[in-house]
Amino acid sequence: MTTPTPARPAGAELRWGALGATAYISGLLLPAIARTDGCVLTAVASRPERHAQAVEVAKPYGATAHEDYAALIADPDVDAVYIALPNTDHVEWTVRALAAGKHVLVEKPMAMDEDGVRRIERAAADASRIATEAFMYRFHPQQQRAADLLAAGTIGELRFVRTAFAFEIPTGSGNIRLDPALGGGATWDVGCYAVDVPQFFFGRAPDRVGARFSSRPGHQVETSAFGWMDFGEGRGAVLDWSIDYGPRAWYELQGTSGTISVRNAWAMSGEDGVLTVRTADGVLTETVPAADHYQLQVGAFARAVAEGRPGPYPIADSRRAARVGAALVASAAAGGTPVATADGRADEPVGAGPART
Ligand SMILES: NC(=O)c1ccc[n+]([C@@H]2O[C@H](COP(=O)([O-])OP(=O)(O)OC[C@H]3O[C@@H](n4cnc5c(N)ncnc54)[C@H](OP(=O)(O)O)[C@@H]3O)[C@@H](O)[C@H]2O)c1
Repeated sequence: MTTPTPARPAGAELRWGALGATAYISGLLLPAIARTDGCVLTAVASRPERHAQAVEVAKPYGATAHEDYAALIADPDVDAVYIALPNTDHVEWTVRALAAGKHVLVEKPMAMDEDGVRRIERAAADASRIATEAFMYRFHPQQQRAADLLAAGTIGELRFVRTAFAFEIPTGSGNIRLDPALGGGATWDVGCYAVDVPQFFFGRAPDRVGARFSSRPGHQVETSAFGWMDFGEGRGAVLDWSIDYGPRAWYELQGTSGTISVRNAWAMSGEDGVLTVRTADGVLTETVPAADHYQLQVGAFARAVAEGRPGPYPIADSRRAARVGAALVASAAAGGTPVATADGRADEPVGAGPART
């Protein structure tokens, strides 16, 4: 686990390949790679039956369109692989890309159980490469500003977190999020943000969690959910997440002397971040200038590779995210019964560093 990652030669560009020619990739992530200093997109791969789509997506970048995923990870002109496949494929393709000597930025959830993250950790250590979960929202400066205000004692001691994340997936859309065989369901898709926020700000995993799930009629995945986390000593979080409702990406930190509320944790490029601080002194609204968290994420990853440092979203956080996510699923399956999550490992570093870029 401690094998150092070799730094890349100074000035060398990080050559990216993307697995899966998705609309999301071509609309957000690939443009972010192209805009990032020191990064270049050299390859895209689709499944063989979708090769034409890979050709289309690769064209504007002059990148190679591979006929399958295996060909891309064998491409000597690729240093780092970005993976946006269905959730069930994240572990397998991350491990395969690492074994082929590539660094990997893999979409959330890195894995749907802690064992999957540990497999990736072992493969990364064996290959002396980085594997990082793509939790882009943490790279937006508004999250760091909220953490700084908290650390400065602006609202006293953190006691409670409220958070809600949602967006709507239409019935009959064929979306992977509605397919149980592809790791669908609101929890691993959008719930993972709600799961991450309280842990990021408390700086640790909860001791126990509980959740209730519900499904849109005719669907076999949970499409809406609510839950709680117990951080001990009276500290806690309530959260809800859904793929049934309109867009929502909000959180509020309740301290002993006030609250910090972040209006849109998914603020996209072009949209300012807005924080509201309420204390006995009054209400202060603060604007954090617009930033592209996808580009900041890509840049932080590229710098970590260049400097031979660990990935910018700590792998311990990915382990903990998978463990807590699985505990919420287990609780819901048991009708909402509390499920222990810390398991003696509450001290793991959480949120040690990705947001500062
Ligand atoms: N961070 C973010 O803002 C964000 C936003 C959207 C999605 N994501 C993440 O990205 C991942 C993919 O989500 P998406 O919305 O991009 O999904 P999507 O549009 O359905 O794309 C998934 C891709 O996976 C490939 N694939 C491989 N096996 C498949 C199968 N059996 N069925 C369908 N597709 C298959 C396909 O690529 P080819 O056809 O080219 O082989 C497909 O384009 C998820 O893990 C999601 O959590 C993150």
